[in-house]
Amino acid sequence: MLKLAIFGSGSGTNCQAIINAVEAGTLNAEIKCILSDVEDAVILERARKHNIPAICFNCAPFKTKLDGEGERVVLQTLKEHDVDFIALAGFMRIVKEGLLNAYAGRIVNIHPSLLPSFPGLDSGKQAFDYGVKITGCTVHFVDSGIDTGAIINQRMITIEDSDTLASMMDKLHAQEHIAYPEALQWIADRRTTLK
Ligand code: GAR
Repeated sequence: MLKLAIFGSGSGTNCQAIINAVEAGTLNAEIKCILSDVEDAVILERARKHNIPAICFNCAPFKTKLDGEGERVVLQTLKEHDVDFIALAGFMRIVKEGLLNAYAGRIVNIHPSLLPSFPGLDSGKQAFDYGVKITGCTVHFVDSGIDTGAIINQRMITIEDSDTLASMMDKLHAQEHIAYPEALQWIADRRTTLK
């Protein structure tokens, strides 16, 4: 069984999909805590609603990464909650060496494009603006690069001429909500390991 922590900065719909899979018994995991760098993030409300510890931490003075004192606090929190695996779900900070080393091969992320295409920020918009006809989502292990870790699962959508960015993102999110719990269950089953 995975002893999971989920990190997010926003609405937490992927986190909700993971909670639902655990509650439905299709994902063999226990969600030990849900963490956010954003105090009023909806993801923390989701945690509280499901009686999962909801923890907000401060990344200051860094604007884009989890490092220094914030990282130290997070590591201590993970230890206190007996976490052995981390799922990033809309977490908008770059994870640095301290966390990567402490959880080597045990941090995964979901990204809204078919990597290696469109890494980084606003990937859905990047793909839409480029005019691709197929895009999707990727669940991957996290390494020290930006969205470069080994791929675990991908699901695709087609972009029709009638699609707007919003309608494309709705389709993409629906696939994310399938891909992420599925990938985590593969890991829980030890069907996927870091190469
Ligand atoms: C998801 O689409 C996820 O792929 C993306 O943020 C969204 C979070 O939505 N992640 C990234 O862009 C990471 N670079 P959610 O909070 O509703 O799960």
